[in-house]
Order: sequence, then C-alpha cells, then structure tokens
Amino acid sequence: MNINKNYLGSINGSDVFQYTLVNDLSTKVQILTLGASIQSIVLPFSDGTDKNVILSYDNWETYQHNPLYLGATLAPNAGRIEGAVLPIYEKTYTLSQNEGNHNTHGGFHNASLQNWDEVSTHCNSASCSVTLTIKLSDGLDGYPGERCIQTCYSLTNDNSLKIHYYAVTDKATYLNISNHTYFNLSGDFNRSGLEQQIKVDASRFVANNNEHIPASIVSCSGSPFDFSTYTSLETNIALHPDHEQLSIAHGYNNAFIFDQMNNQLKKTLSIRDRSSEYIMELSTDAPGIVLYSGGYIGDQWNLAGGFKSSDSCAIALEAQDIPNSPNFLPELCCYTTPDCPYDRTIIFKFISD
Ligand code: BGC
Repeated sequence: MNINKNYLGSINGSDVFQYTLVNDLSTKVQILTLGASIQSIVLPFSDGTDKNVILSYDNWETYQHNPLYLGATLAPNAGRIEGAVLPIYEKTYTLSQNEGNHNTHGGFHNASLQNWDEVSTHCNSASCSVTLTIKLSDGLDGYPGERCIQTCYSLTNDNSLKIHYYAVTDKATYLNISNHTYFNLSGDFNRSGLEQQIKVDASRFVANNNEHIPASIVSCSGSPFDFSTYTSLETNIALHPDHEQLSIAHGYNNAFIFDQMNNQLKKTLSIRDRSSEYIMELSTDAPGIVLYSGGYIGDQWNLAGGFKSSDSCAIALEAQDIPNSPNFLPELCCYTTPDCPYDRTIIFKFISD
C-alpha cells in the first residue's frame, strides 16, 4: 500500500495536486484535486501490461473545465433538475440554467469545476485513502445552504475503490452526489464501450422526454433495458433498433431503479467485457443508477494512452437518486438538513475474471 502526492501546477492561484494510490496487487488509482476527479484506474493484466480502464484526458489541465465530466465528483446534484426549479419542503428555489431550461450537475459553478482542498491522507496495510473537501456557498447556482462536502477515496487490498461522500449544510438543501467515471474494462478506447456486458438488479427504469428529463417509470422486461442477466449494450440495442429511448439518448441515458431501496450498501450492478480480465462490481447505498452510454462524447478529445475519443467509447455509471427526484418523485426525495447530514457510498470492485 502506498500513496504519493504530486504537485501539478497552479490554476488561478490555487494549487492542483494529484494523488496516486497503489495497492499490493499493483492496482493504481489517480485522484485529482480538480473536481475531486478520478483521473485513472490502472489494472495489471496477465500479459504484463498495465491498462487504464477509465476514460481520461491526455493532460490534467483539461480537468479544470472537464467538458465530459470525466471521473468528476458531481455535486451538489448529479443529473438534471427540470426547469431549474427546486422545491425543498415549503420553499421553491430557482436554480441556474446551464442546459437549456434545466440545471444539470448543479449548474455553472458545480463542484466538478472547482479545485478541492485536501483534508487528509491515510495509508495502512489494508487501504490507502485521500479525503478532499469543497465549500459551496449559500445560493451558489440557486441552491440553498452553505454546504461543506467531503469526498473520500480509499483503495483497498481487495481491489476496491471506495468512494464515500459526506456533507453538512446550515440550511435544508438538496444533495445528490455521484461520480462520473466512464468505464471500458478492455482499456482499449478504440473498442466500443457498448461491447461491455452489464447485469443490473433493477426491474424498472426511468423513461425520459427528449431533453433527458424523467417522464415515467417503466418495466425493464421485454425492453432494451432488460439487463437481468449479463447482456452487452450492443446486443440489447440490436434487438430494439427503433426504441424511442435509445434514439433520444444515442444509446442509454437512463436511470435504473434498484429493486432493493433500503439505503443499505449492496451489490447492484456488474460489468464485464470479453476483452478484459476484470469484472467490475458496483455496490452502493443509492436508490438507483444512471447508465449513460456516452452517445454524445464526440470525437474531438485527446485521451490518455494516445487514444482519440469517439461516441460510446466508454460508459458512465452514476449511482445516485432517481434524477429530478424533488419534482419527479417527491415522496422518495430525501433532503439534507443541519440535523441530517448527507452520507453516500459507491464502491467499484475489480475482480480478476
Ligand atoms: C450525463 C452528462 C452527459 C449527458 C448527455 C448525462 O446524463 O451525466 O454528463 O453529457 O447525459 O446529454
């Protein structure tokens, strides 16, 4: 177990650091203070090569504006709030509109665009961790409450990367924090991310309108959203070529609602690829997950490893509340208050196949 801190440079007077966490299996995870982002997850393969299995820019400076939200901490809210209108108990707040009429990922000043501060680093024989923090001021992008958010990344010797979010506020507010890492377990970003197979413990998904705003809850059965057994995204797309949801998203950009919604940490999704030696198991205590298959990535980004981006070259898995919960599912919506801090965990576990 080892952690190494590296000074990368300064942006607007704020120092940017990179933390490299390495476990006894030689798995290496790099974290940036910019957006508290996961910059790379490098796994050792049996042919002696090390492969980064997540989408990464070829240089750290791009993370300051991070157009694809690669690896970023999405806060205060992952996903869209319809019409940028946020009801919290008896009050309604008007948020900034950074995507059409909507507020996405928290607005223009969201936490993925901030340079976070270090709280602490730790290393012992079982795990290595770094905790980063950011303060979002009351009223920033319209969200109430001075919110102090912490993201802790721990790499363990069972090959898990655990993400723990904890936040306090001085006023009732809405927090729905997630991570925006895109995976292609083959480590080859010239291969489509749609070749990956996933299995999700969800029998319902959320259908969106054509602005990616949740519109209805639908059964997965008999649809391209049926991932009850390992199925590749491309197989499900080929079976339902004219499905309206797939055309809206150029693939998938939908939430799955987990069958068990009891706030307990549970294994909810697994992903594998026939060109990879690793399966990734995702555990979380969130009620759902958004699968964004990268249909809008574009081909203009230079990626680490000398790759060039392309649509769907990797897929994002964002464990979170059901998007737009304050408006769409108010009965399920949980607010963060001064008495009830925000607490959420996401674990990516890499198991050699
Ligand atoms: C993702 C965004 C992405 C978008 C495409 C979302 O659900 O989280 O970051 O750019 O869909 O419209």
